[in-house]
Amino acid sequence: MESAEIRRRFLNFFAERGHTVVPSASLLLNDPTLLFVNAGMVPFKPYFLGEAVPPYKRATSVQKVVRTLDIEEVGKTTRHASFFQMCGNFSFGDYFKEGAIPFAWDLLTTSTHEGGYGFPEDKLWVTVYEDDDEAAGMWQELVGLPADRIQRRGMVDNFWSMGVPGPCGPCSEIYYDRGPDYGREGGPVADEDRYLEVWNLVFMQSIRGEGPGKEGFPILGDLPNKNIDTGLGLERMAAILQGVDNIYEIDTTRGILDRAAELSGTAYGTAEGSDVALRVVADHARTCAFLIGDGVIPGNEGRGYVLRRITRRVISKMRELGAHEPTMGELIDTAIAQMAPQYPELNDQHVRIRQVAVGEESAFLQTLRTGSAIFDTAVASVRTNGGSTLSGEQAFALHDTYGFPIDLTLELAAE
Ligand code: SER
Repeated sequence: MESAEIRRRFLNFFAERGHTVVPSASLLLNDPTLLFVNAGMVPFKPYFLGEAVPPYKRATSVQKVVRTLDIEEVGKTTRHASFFQMCGNFSFGDYFKEGAIPFAWDLLTTSTHEGGYGFPEDKLWVTVYEDDDEAAGMWQELVGLPADRIQRRGMVDNFWSMGVPGPCGPCSEIYYDRGPDYGREGGPVADEDRYLEVWNLVFMQSIRGEGPGKEGFPILGDLPNKNIDTGLGLERMAAILQGVDNIYEIDTTRGILDRAAELSGTAYGTAEGSDVALRVVADHARTCAFLIGDGVIPGNEGRGYVLRRITRRVISKMRELGAHEPTMGELIDTAIAQMAPQYPELNDQHVRIRQVAVGEESAFLQTLRTGSAIFDTAVASVRTNGGSTLSGEQAFALHDTYGFPIDLTLELAAE
């Protein structure tokens, strides 16, 4: 099933059940706690907190999301992306667990010719928060899930917040068993590669305060209403429904990956190192197009720095893969061609997005030419002195005097 169809089915399913279809918000929202929208619920946060009155009781959306905390994992695992799309259904003081659980189950298990995703019921597992007997009971009573496919987990896994003070609540996650080829028996608590998380249902009912990590914060009280916030990763769903191993090989992203392979002259599937690099390029080129499209300009801090870092990673990987000429323009063209059918604003912004990306590429290639020479000299002097570690002073000089980015120095030094 194509990505566009997965998205269409999600929105239709919830529209038919009284949800207003809300278009994706920009990646840049005015929330001082966030650089980028990092979850489908972010645009609705004021409704959960009771700071604004929602114009609807039920909503559904496919929201653009950027998460860069795990950027080093992109391409190495089957499921990390810096940009992805989150399909969600939301209730603002309307239905709660008793509504969200059967909705999710029906959409997943209804056959594909009847408009669902066609998952076999016996391949689905769920987790619930450790003391959430209510949700565990509903999974059995409302949809008939056997008790031995419901597992309980603590705060770290089954309590969701934005990572900062704000709305939060216990959650229940739905997992798809990909089978013994992918790992151990025993449900999601045993192996999250075999049991792939596909949908997170958050029972948004509390407010959290400051505190580290996923459990080191106080619960300050209740939200004015009991709400629902769910998130189903479109790319993960596509990987399952298209029968590919990872999210970089799904229809849309694969197009960018193949273009990167053509432009660099390195075929996909020849070696693990170059495969990782091609996956990074496919993921990051798409992220660049969306960030620039939403108004980010490369810079040295904040959002601009994230964009700069991502763009530069694309360029470095393409060089590593064997590209000698600039490739950013072509990669952006391909990313836009793949994504514009669902995000027509990319077409309207195409010329500007391309210009910004190509401009950053030429500036960086110039920096690389100067910086690489200085880097090589620094490495040679370390070696002459019998050492194997570039000093902090040398790394700083590369950055401060020559604009050579520290992450690149780290990568080159490790090599
Ligand atoms: N907010 C939850 C998440 O991002 C569910 O949408 O996983």
